[in-house]
Amino acid sequence: MSTQAIPWWQKTVVYQIYPRSFQDSNNDGIGDIPGIIKRLDYLQSLGVETIWFSPFFSSPQADFGYDISDYKSISPEYGTMQDVNALIEGIHQRGMKLIFDMVMNHTSDQHPWFQVSKSSRTNPKADWYIWRDKPTNWKSIVWGKGWQYCADRDQWYYASFLPFQPDLNYQNPEVKKEMFDTVRFWLDKGVDGFRLDIFNCIIKDPQFRDNPFSLNPFPSVESPGGNFQQRKYSLNQPGNFEFARELRAVLNEYGPDEKFLVGEVFGSQDTVSQYLGQQDGLHLIFLFETLYFKLKASWFRKTIRSFEENFPAPFIPTWVLGNHDIYRYSRRIDNDLRKARIMALLQLTVRAVPVLYYGEEIGMANGNIDFQKAKDPLARTFSWIPAFVRNLLPVSVNRDVCRTPMQWDNTRHAGFSNTQPWLPTGPDEHIRNVKSMSDNPETLLNWYKQLIQLRKENPCLHAGTLRLLNEYPDEILAYERTDDLGIKLLILINFSGKALHFSLHSEGKILVASDSTVQLSNGQVVLPAHSGIVIQ
Ligand code: GLC
Repeated sequence: MSTQAIPWWQKTVVYQIYPRSFQDSNNDGIGDIPGIIKRLDYLQSLGVETIWFSPFFSSPQADFGYDISDYKSISPEYGTMQDVNALIEGIHQRGMKLIFDMVMNHTSDQHPWFQVSKSSRTNPKADWYIWRDKPTNWKSIVWGKGWQYCADRDQWYYASFLPFQPDLNYQNPEVKKEMFDTVRFWLDKGVDGFRLDIFNCIIKDPQFRDNPFSLNPFPSVESPGGNFQQRKYSLNQPGNFEFARELRAVLNEYGPDEKFLVGEVFGSQDTVSQYLGQQDGLHLIFLFETLYFKLKASWFRKTIRSFEENFPAPFIPTWVLGNHDIYRYSRRIDNDLRKARIMALLQLTVRAVPVLYYGEEIGMANGNIDFQKAKDPLARTFSWIPAFVRNLLPVSVNRDVCRTPMQWDNTRHAGFSNTQPWLPTGPDEHIRNVKSMSDNPETLLNWYKQLIQLRKENPCLHAGTLRLLNEYPDEILAYERTDDLGIKLLILINFSGKALHFSLHSEGKILVASDSTVQLSNGQVVLPAHSGIVIQ
């Protein structure tokens, strides 16, 4: 496909905002939509093109917006529908796009639909959720039983995530119609697409068969759920792939490639790739392997190879290093800015849609939040795990740590708010903030800007092919990106802790370098520890 023919959403850089933590405008300690609007110029200057907003719809906030009680109104602490209209307009005026977070799998148990549904077995919404006289053995994807007892109906309802998030029943055509109309409601307002929350939980086995036992106590990318159970009948059902196609048909009403869907789906690459479809499936899916990266060239080579095999053009992988559910990646790189620079270099030059999480561009670290004071409902669910075990887990069971306020400047509460924020600001707020990192061209923030710009200017980076190269030392990750005119860029990243000397296998000059002491002369390169270059 010629680089021109590639749809916009394949070339874009996505930036995730957790609205509660981005910018407070009315000093209640909670981020809000007018606050985000004030920061749109910043986002534009950073160069990101598509903003994904975690939900700000009406919600009791038991899971901070992932428990919706009305899909078509805004939670008052975040603003009003007028604010959302202004947000959409402000983003589009700047030539940027936006996607909303669509939580289709479940509502809040406070949603009026559920309140009616649970009141009797005969009410008009009796069949809007998944009710059974006898539960199956299915476990939630978090922990413990997935079925919750309701005395009013003397029945059980199913909740894939936490008990206060009952799953909707998509076998009921009324539910499907209502949710597809909700999708249209936001698309009509100008939203450019959706991130689909736990999308692979939506359709369940129509025969409600018990899930088989597994030896796996912990969830993994290959074996989601963990907890000694294979989610054979409660995740990634054939009907779920079909549901992706039905949802895509709704988006196609707006033109073939105008709007896009990115699914939060987990499972082996073989399984999750079945959600994708050029005309009739999801446009993109999050690939979560990269959240758990090992800082080694061999690890990245292997991952890139498998992404290239499983998501060849016209498909494209995503490249995600963090989100609102997992430790910030600063933990995997010992908070070392040199390592952050090579991670950014990789993320913004590899063949993938990069998805940045707010604060990564300034190297924000994880918050130090006392587990007993955690706001995240998962912390309560897992409060029985002893602290020393918790700290060894690769996933954080207190997601507050990655949700601390965005660090804007050196003032009190990091410029996020004039009052005590809903979560304390991060440990590094005085040195890693937008203001103090803006002026110096050598900062991580300016490195991100430079790389995003480079990606925009070079079709081979945002639309070209990728070829892994193995003629360089083993600790060097080397790949080449080529556009359809044959214009190439070479990327070399030293993941080791020592400087490496080697010769270049082609002519070239350095376009950008993560470290100012890199040397290239007469075809000989010296790449310092944890540094990388792009060569033209
Ligand atoms: C997704 C969201 C997470 C939320 C859960 C339930 O995994 O990313 O934040 O708690 O779904 O909606």
